[in-house]
Amino acid sequence: MLIRQAPHISTSEITDEGLVLRRREFLRGAAAAAGVAALPAGTRAAAEENHPLLPNVKPGAFGTDEERTRYSDAISYNNFYEFGSRKGDPARNAGSLKTKPWSIAIEGEVDKPGRIDLEDLIAPHTLEERVYRMRCVEAWSMVIPWVGVPLGKLLERFAPTSKAKYVAFQTLLDPKQMPGQRRNVLDWPYVEGLRIDEAVHPLTILSVGMYGRVLPNQNGAPIRLVVPWKYGFKGIKSIVKIELTEKQPPTSWNLSAGYEYGFYANVNPNVDHPRWSQKRERRIGDFLKRDTLPFNGYADQVSSLYTGMDLRKYF
Ligand code: MTE
Repeated sequence: MLIRQAPHISTSEITDEGLVLRRREFLRGAAAAAGVAALPAGTRAAAEENHPLLPNVKPGAFGTDEERTRYSDAISYNNFYEFGSRKGDPARNAGSLKTKPWSIAIEGEVDKPGRIDLEDLIAPHTLEERVYRMRCVEAWSMVIPWVGVPLGKLLERFAPTSKAKYVAFQTLLDPKQMPGQRRNVLDWPYVEGLRIDEAVHPLTILSVGMYGRVLPNQNGAPIRLVVPWKYGFKGIKSIVKIELTEKQPPTSWNLSAGYEYGFYANVNPNVDHPRWSQKRERRIGDFLKRDTLPFNGYADQVSSLYTGMDLRKYF
C-alpha cells in the first residue's frame, strides 16, 4: 500500500517480508529434519491458547480445498495500519485493543436501526467456516478458514429501505488503543464501502474467527469484513459502525490515493496497479508465483454483479 510519509514504500517491503517468511519456512523445515523442536511451534501454541476455540462452527458453502496458509503466518504477516505500517507491527502492537464488550451500530437507510452485539454474533448455531482464497493488492495471497456469518442475513434484521444502495463500514477510532492513529498515515477512522448487492452476496461475511478460533486482534478482532473476490483492503477490521446509504461512500485507500485504489477493487489480473502488475501473486509459504484469477477465482459466483460495467474504469 502507499503511505503518506513514504509514498515510495512499495513492493520492496513485500519482497523483503516475503523473503523473511520463506527463510522461516526453510528454518522450520531444517529444524524438523534435524529432529529439533522448532521454535514457531511453541509460538503457535501460545497464540492458540490466547484465542479460544469457537463452539459448534458448521462447515459453510463456497470453501476451497486448497492448502490453508499456516496459522502462524496468517497471524504474523498483516496489514492493520492502526497498529503500524510494517507487516509485523500488528502482531506486535495490537494487544492494546480492548475487544470486549463490542457492538456494531447499524444506521442510515434502515427502518429498524440498532446494534449487533458480539455476543449475539457468536451464538453457536449461527457460525460457519468459509475457507477462502484471499488476495492482497500487494500481490501476495493466503487461504484462510474464516469463521463468520453472511452479512446479508444480518442486514435483513434491520430492514433496509429502498434507498439503501450502498453499505459504509467504519473501524474504531481511538488513538489510545490504536497507536497508528496518532500518525496521519491515513485519514482516521479507516472506512470502507460496498454496493448493497455486493454486501448481501452470499460470499460476503462478517468474520469473528479464523482456524476455528476467536480472531486475533491483528486480524481485525473482534469483527471484520471478508469479501473474497476483492483485494484485501476491502476487508475492514474492528468494525464499530455500518451505515446503509443512498450515495457511494468514501473509502480510506481511495481517499488516500484514488488513482491506485478504486472503490470496486475487484481482483483483476488484467488491470495493473500503477506501480506493479496484478497478473501473478505469491501465496505466502510458496516459493514460486502463481497466476492471479479474475475475481480471485470467484467469477462464477460474482461476475454477473458487474455485467455491462467497464472494469478498467471501475477498478
Ligand atoms: N482494516 C483496517 N481498519 N485498517 C487497515 O489498515 N488493512 C487492510 C484490511 N483491513 C486494514 C484493514 C488491508 S490493506 C489488508 S490486505 C487486509 O486488511 C489484511 O488482512 P489480514 O492482516 O487479516 O491478512
